[in-house]
Amino acid sequence: MLALGCDHGGYPLMKEVIQYLEANHIAYKNFGTYSEDSVDYPIYGKAVAGAVAAGECEKGILICGTGIGISITANKVKGIRCALCGDVFSAKATREHNDANILAMGARVTGAGLALEIVKAFLETPFSNDERHIRRINQIED
Ligand code: RB5
Repeated sequence: MLALGCDHGGYPLMKEVIQYLEANHIAYKNFGTYSEDSVDYPIYGKAVAGAVAAGECEKGILICGTGIGISITANKVKGIRCALCGDVFSAKATREHNDANILAMGARVTGAGLALEIVKAFLETPFSNDERHIRRINQIED
């Protein structure tokens, strides 16, 4: 199960992401927001990060205007590795190397076409399980 969260700045892109997930029969839980009315991104960043950290959801996608505020918020939660990505290479690499469990994007930065390619790469790329990457991830939590 994928956890979704966005603020008003991220909402237009989140609608596109949801369409993509539904077209590809990917299950999700949407933590909001549900419109372009102004809200505070930490609420949604914390909700999604909490669900992933608790094991309720396996991965998450967070979107705000830049992706910055919402990714900073998510990364404050223990066990969360939230990667702000604006390109497909980074989305693939952060799964392989960092075992990132949340993808963040900026709706005012990244166009929908590219964003959906980023989502696909993030969801379809497995963690490498290489010893050196496991060691480095463990060091993050130390
Ligand atoms: C909202 O205007 C905007 O500040 C927010 O979406 C995000 O970009 C914050 O980092």
